[in-house]
Amino acid sequence: MNTAKRRTVIAGNWKMNFTPDQATAFINELKPMVAGKDNCDIIFCAPYVTIAAAQAAAQGSNIKIGAENVHFAPNGAYTGEVSAEMLKAIGVEYVIIGHSERRQYFGETDETVNLRTKAALAAGMTVILCLGEVKEQRLAGITDEVVAMQTKLDLAGVSAEELKRVIIAYEPVWAIGTGLTATPEQAEETCASIRRVVASMYGNDAAEALTIQYGGSMNDANAADLLAKTNVDGGLIGGASLVAKKFTAIVDAAQ
Ligand code: 13P
Repeated sequence: MNTAKRRTVIAGNWKMNFTPDQATAFINELKPMVAGKDNCDIIFCAPYVTIAAAQAAAQGSNIKIGAENVHFAPNGAYTGEVSAEMLKAIGVEYVIIGHSERRQYFGETDETVNLRTKAALAAGMTVILCLGEVKEQRLAGITDEVVAMQTKLDLAGVSAEELKRVIIAYEPVWAIGTGLTATPEQAEETCASIRRVVASMYGNDAAEALTIQYGGSMNDANAADLLAKTNVDGGLIGGASLVAKKFTAIVDAAQ
């Protein structure tokens, strides 16, 4: 973290977990545990049907509720999708785009990720843009090339002004849900590499102001070492974001 230059963001990605009642109970449990811990932003990205309950429970607290995806069209014949306008209408300001599970299981490409990103930004939302290499790419030594390509394609056409509402989540796919965490050094190297690419696109000041999270089996035990790295400005947390005690420990590591 370099808190002098950029905001630390600890975000939970609930994925396909929590009914509205479960989300309410979770937020009610967590609220007093993270109250006043304002050195980082705290966000949970929830399934669409759970957003309203989570928002109601989080009201008046330092917890913000976001979505896990958004479509690029304003409306129309896209069965099963939700537009940025719809999310804005219910007060959602944050949205995850390009998660590896969307890319892996639901056919999302850098092209659709870019379209969704531009639509969310145009609607005034803040985007948590996920990217990262798969295991074979890391083993082949092409991680930097892969994340550079994703960064350039996913942000194509995003203005410098809009970039202020972008958070990049570097999530090595081999570390997601596997218990295999990138070492703090690996996380630092690749987050720094992404920042250099952003600097080449938008200049140094914009790159230095960009929050870059690490995601992939971040938990209460490893968060402090990861967050101690200069270029790791927060976490995008899956499994540990479903357990109030574990999530709070990660928030504490960011204080
Ligand atoms: P885990 O923390 O469960 O590995 O998930 C990380 C992730 O995919 C966050 O978006």
